[in-house]
Amino acid sequence: MTTLESFLSELEAVATTAALRELRSKYLGKKGVLTEQLKTLPSLDPHHRAVFGASINETKKYIEERLKEHEKQLTSKEIKAKLSKEKIDITLPGYYKKPGGRHPVTIILAEITDIFVSMGFSIEEGPEVESDYYNFEALNIPQNHPARDMQDTFYIDSNVGSNRSGDDAFVLRTHTSPVQIRVMKNSSPPLRFIAPGKVYRCDSDISHSPMFHQIEGLVVDKDISFANLKGLLEGFLRKVFGPDVPVRLRPSFFPFTEPSAEVDMGCYFCKGSGCRVCKGTGWIEIMGAGMVDPRVFNNVGYDTNQYSGFAFGMGIERIASLKYGIDDIRLYYEGDLRFLRQF
Ligand code: PHE
Repeated sequence: MTTLESFLSELEAVATTAALRELRSKYLGKKGVLTEQLKTLPSLDPHHRAVFGASINETKKYIEERLKEHEKQLTSKEIKAKLSKEKIDITLPGYYKKPGGRHPVTIILAEITDIFVSMGFSIEEGPEVESDYYNFEALNIPQNHPARDMQDTFYIDSNVGSNRSGDDAFVLRTHTSPVQIRVMKNSSPPLRFIAPGKVYRCDSDISHSPMFHQIEGLVVDKDISFANLKGLLEGFLRKVFGPDVPVRLRPSFFPFTEPSAEVDMGCYFCKGSGCRVCKGTGWIEIMGAGMVDPRVFNNVGYDTNQYSGFAFGMGIERIASLKYGIDDIRLYYEGDLRFLRQF
């Protein structure tokens, strides 16, 4: 087979531009077949040299042309293949990803926060793992005080990491009230803030969940009275539930407020006639409140002759349940989309 014949048969088999490049270098490259042939010319006698040289050059030229031509075909074929592979059908319907929604607790939390911010309250936060001191002691709930039984506390194992005990121990905060102490210790009156967040109690039934949300509120200034507290809470509840909502304040006890009150709202489900949600009473408790106990002010170094204040703490799930008519608190945490999609 002549050089040209073998080239042509190899060329036929070339299907990619990469293979073509290889073939070119095999014949025309520095060590290519034709280059090697040209190197033999000096050893030939002049007559043969002229004839053979001319024939090599002609072959070379021909091969070059064929390579170019083949390359053109290959490139256009490759472009076509690429174009058809990457074709986009803009008439196809697009992918639709359903957007996520906000959790009902988040919705109510935002709504309540907005109301208080509009009344000039700032927003504070505190840790969920809290020391016994902030959660109890500083709030006038000493060791072994019966008031500790009101809150079924999750204690953090004192053997883990440290050997703390007593008021040095850690708990999952049972309420947002420790934020009162943290803020008062770090700033001076006048104060007007809310502190939303998660709290934990070892309790679980239709109206109690081991984790739930509270919003704490604290106002400290000169001449703050119980009437101010009552006015604020009533105004707030009317904003959330409308002007006709039944609200009552009931005398109660908290170690960190004196006097103390519990705030109840008319049961949404039975409209006051008594059902399993309100446990037959017609009322649902949504909030604890009262005037800051002087002992608490003493604990943070505030002058009780100069300042007075009130505090309140409300359960967010309770409020959301009343607003949306949800009769089981556990629904909030089951992640059931049929429930969550309704908000
Ligand atoms: N911390 C109390 C509770 O969780 C509620 C409360 C807050 C009561 C502020 C009075 C003042 O039960």
